[in-house]
Amino acid sequence: MYASARHSLVIVSNRLPFTVEPRPEGPLFTRSPGGLVTALEPVLSDRGGVWIGWNGLNTDDAGDLAGFAPESQSGVRYRALPLSAREVARYYEGFSNRTLWPLFHYFVSSTRIDARTWRTYEQVNQRFAEAAVQESDPDSMIWIHDYQLLRVPHYLRQHHERARIGFFLHVPFPSADVFRVLPWSRAIMRGMLGADLVGFHVQSYAEHFLLCAERLLGCEVDSKAGIVQFEGRQVSVQAHPIGVDVAHIEALASAAPPRPDVTEPGDGVAQVLGVDRLDYSKGLHQRLLSIERLFELHPMHRGRVTFTQILVPSRERVKEYEQLKRDIDETIGRVNGKFSEGGWTPIRYMVRSFPQDELMCRYHQAHVALVTPLRDGMNLVAKEYVAAQVSNDGVLILSELAGAAEELQEALLVNPFDVEAVTEALHSALTMPRDERRARMSALRDRVRANDVHGWIRRFLQAAGLAWDRARNTDLSPSDRVRRALEGWLGTRSTVAVFVDYDGTLTPIVDRPEEAVLSDAVRELLEQAARVPYLDLVVVSGRALDDVRSRVPIPGITVVGNHGFEIEGPGISYRHPHVDAHRANIERAAGDLARIDAPGTQVEQKGATVAFHVRRVDSARKGEAVTQALSVLRDRGLEVMVGNQVVEGRPPLDWHKGRAVLHVLRERHGANWPSKVRVIYIGDDTTDQDAFRSLRGIGRSIQVGRARNGTATADFMLPDPAAVLQFLRWLVSGGFVSPG
Ligand code: UDP
Ligand code: G6P
Repeated sequence: MYASARHSLVIVSNRLPFTVEPRPEGPLFTRSPGGLVTALEPVLSDRGGVWIGWNGLNTDDAGDLAGFAPESQSGVRYRALPLSAREVARYYEGFSNRTLWPLFHYFVSSTRIDARTWRTYEQVNQRFAEAAVQESDPDSMIWIHDYQLLRVPHYLRQHHERARIGFFLHVPFPSADVFRVLPWSRAIMRGMLGADLVGFHVQSYAEHFLLCAERLLGCEVDSKAGIVQFEGRQVSVQAHPIGVDVAHIEALASAAPPRPDVTEPGDGVAQVLGVDRLDYSKGLHQRLLSIERLFELHPMHRGRVTFTQILVPSRERVKEYEQLKRDIDETIGRVNGKFSEGGWTPIRYMVRSFPQDELMCRYHQAHVALVTPLRDGMNLVAKEYVAAQVSNDGVLILSELAGAAEELQEALLVNPFDVEAVTEALHSALTMPRDERRARMSALRDRVRANDVHGWIRRFLQAAGLAWDRARNTDLSPSDRVRRALEGWLGTRSTVAVFVDYDGTLTPIVDRPEEAVLSDAVRELLEQAARVPYLDLVVVSGRALDDVRSRVPIPGITVVGNHGFEIEGPGISYRHPHVDAHRANIERAAGDLARIDAPGTQVEQKGATVAFHVRRVDSARKGEAVTQALSVLRDRGLEVMVGNQVVEGRPPLDWHKGRAVLHVLRERHGANWPSKVRVIYIGDDTTDQDAFRSLRGIGRSIQVGRARNGTATADFMLPDPAAVLQFLRWLVSGGFVSPG
């Protein structure tokens, strides 16, 4: 099934396929640079539809021409979104190309952090979304592209909850540690998660994204299935490696004159080709150094190998790009100066864009292609070179840090930073026996043919249709519901104090209290929570303080034991002043309880309080055992509490978990804590209801499982400790922090 064939298509990308230049005789259209345009042109010629983008001008210099696009033809319509000079400077040159581009390509130290450019990026993204809304009907498939428009899915979703939205990123998605360098990383994640399907070139980018969804937003993530639960929708996250238009390239390459064979001495000059936008991510400088080393280390290639580099000017108003051009000029001048002789020049370079037919012809003529980006989402040049080798010859040297390397394993894969290794790969390519060249190239061609651009379009749109169906079938999970409700209240990054009960909240209820230990996942999360500066985590329990401490041995976490009679944590050490006066009485009560004759009972002497557990008592005898325990405790003048499978006796003092919570808050944050701290209490037991009541109106409470006495005193509910874990994960992630 071609799921979205019935839906009209709206493509949204920063670039339109053409760039407009004002000329006295009328606007001149040239093809826009880069792989995105190459990839998207066939989408509309296959499907028809609308393409929204920027035509390269700005309204300050070009007036109305900045919103100009050619007439629609053969079912394809273009809409140019006019941008002001300031918007181009801040949104395109600034946030897109001085912040996101370097960061996503792991040039962390070149990444500019500038809140003004971010704000303009937001505004322009909003405008793109508005244009998409105008160009679509409720059933359209809106397909958004690349790093310049990461917030557009969010704005579209805000506008239309049921919109069909696909997003594809043409550049790498970096690892979580790199991505979080961005102060707006969470807003960007939320932006992308507005789509039904978020697509990447390769699996590792998708994995990075899934981890960011979990870590930064605290989303529930099924990484195997590639699903993120986000705001009540299931967002699909998948790898869809892009392809090239193989049939078209083959046709253009076949029209080229046959390539001279130069593997035998005296055959002529072997051609090594590089084709790139003039971009620092392309590894041009290192590449030139490896050419230089080739002629130094292997003089046999002097006079017999020429390296031709095509450079397409790019983002010339961005400082790093200007500088790059100067470096390259200088290096090429030096290498040519060093080795040129008798009419032979080792490096030739051309700084302009070639039309596709001429480019394919050059690919076909090249004996070796040198594609060595330091980082590249995919790199279409590598695939185009392969597709153009219609005689199954030619050698591809490819950076293992380009997305294309995942598929093109038969290329000579190199680390582009390792100049010596690239030199040796070049030498091997230039001396490779014909059989090996053909074996490698025919395998590569099969691979590139199997996943061409038309297949990519079909598969992505089909997956987006399925993702839309799936996203709609989701109910909010309980922890999602609580998160949603609390998001606005937590709002900004003030201190959040989180009180959590132990048994039944952090651990599932077990038959024997001594067996309730933290799972690894919960322990790791608590350790993480203890390190988060804005979280103040307190574990509250009816257990003795030492017992809880030994179960939660995490420094930095405050522990409240014995229903509040004992408290210990950073800056607090508290023991209720009158509790020791009742100690002997508690001990005597424990002795009486131990004499109750019902198999399976367990008496827990906790110092300040005593518990009588009946979970393992036969149900026929349980009622009787409880009645006896209650009367023992009352006879001893203790205050009695009936909990979950437990009866407890404690000193008749007006003190409980709720008062202990207020005590901790006052000690830790001062008497006016309610204006500084957001407080959340999570617990499953009857004794936790004291805390729910104490916090009413000044904090938020969450009941775990059903309230045992049927009265819902808590503000929210979570079904079990697993949901508590999810909820805590979200708190730890800081996912509630407002965007921007
Ligand atoms: N290209 C072109 N003319 C040129 C040089 C390159 O049309 O003179 C095209 C090339 O065919 C390829 C694209 O530019 O489709 C470059 O895409 P790639 O993914 O390799 O890199 P990007 O520029 O997108 O980073
Ligand atoms: C890469 C990006 C594209 C961009 C292209 C050319 O392929 O992924 O989004 O269009 O480079 O860059 P430019 O800044 O000229 O659009």
